[in-house]
Amino acid sequence: MKLLVYGAGVLGSLFAARMYEAGHHVSLLARGERLASLCEHGVQLAEAGSQAIRRVPIPVVEHPDGAYDLITVLVRAHQVDAVLESLAPVEGDVLFLHNWAAGPESLGAVIGDNRVLLGFPTAAGTMDGDVVRYRKTTAMTRRVAMPIGESDGRTTQRLQRIVRTFRAAGINAKAEPRIDTWLKTHAAFEVPLGQAVHAAGGPAALAADPDAVRAMLHQMRCNLAAMGTRPVPRAFGALRTLPQGFLVAGLRAFLKSPAAVQSSLNNLSPATAAEMERLAEQIRTRAGTP
Ligand SMILES: NC(=O)c1ccc[n+]([C@@H]2O[C@H](COP(=O)([O-])OP(=O)(O)OC[C@H]3O[C@@H](n4cnc5c(N)ncnc54)[C@H](OP(=O)(O)O)[C@@H]3O)[C@@H](O)[C@H]2O)c1
Repeated sequence: MKLLVYGAGVLGSLFAARMYEAGHHVSLLARGERLASLCEHGVQLAEAGSQAIRRVPIPVVEHPDGAYDLITVLVRAHQVDAVLESLAPVEGDVLFLHNWAAGPESLGAVIGDNRVLLGFPTAAGTMDGDVVRYRKTTAMTRRVAMPIGESDGRTTQRLQRIVRTFRAAGINAKAEPRIDTWLKTHAAFEVPLGQAVHAAGGPAALAADPDAVRAMLHQMRCNLAAMGTRPVPRAFGALRTLPQGFLVAGLRAFLKSPAAVQSSLNNLSPATAAEMERLAEQIRTRAGTP
């Protein structure tokens, strides 16, 4: 397959490397200093906690060119508008694999509705200079499949082909018939979490402030209520029905855990804050609140 991975940050670099190593004809689209670094060294990968750095010599491009079997977009939500413009004249299905709570319509309006697929990456990692430090795969993370879906919920042949392509490259993926609701549910939870962590200065600092955790839970509940549809996965409905005290204790325990401290929650970068702000705006727009 001829693939383009659009966005050479943490996950774009990781996914492009996996696809390249699986034998696909893949290019990685980068810009600025990242482009120069990739041209010189290739993608540099290290598993979290390991000193060993692996270099993968993926072809790097600055602009999309021609036609692709699949373009996978791995940028932040607030960066998507510029990407759309550059994809409009290029041919190929486009999988938007990032946080997104605005639905497929605004994407399809620019590049064509029939080209749009949505999904969410379940891998994780951080940039350490030019090196991507990715989360170690465990028996548990291996079981969590990356959801990918058509915007109208159909299980099409192209969706099945994309899922198979990711799986063959060692990335667990599954077809998700309600991907738009999945993404909205995720944003309803992640935006209050990300913004509260940012305001507190990190997950452990937030855990130490029960009032802030209560306020965060209240915002999650408001967001879920405003969706007007059952959450996907349905387990998120428990955030509305279980007692507040129980949930606050559970959230505080999670925030103190190594899983939270080592996660991208500890990434308090301007890009993370800008993405959360864009998602919050998308949630407000869809809920019809100012
Ligand atoms: N990292 C994680 O652990 C993780 C886990 C789950 C989900 N996610 C989500 O997955 C998505 C991608 O995350 P990420 O961590 O890979 O983000 P990231 O490291 O910030 O990577 C985004 C990359 O896209 C590039 N980019 C943005 N607009 C561009 C444009 N117009 N042209 C060329 N390059 C462009 C950025 O370049 P600049 O740096 O120059 O802006 C950056 O290199 C986000 O929605 C994130 O929330 C991430």
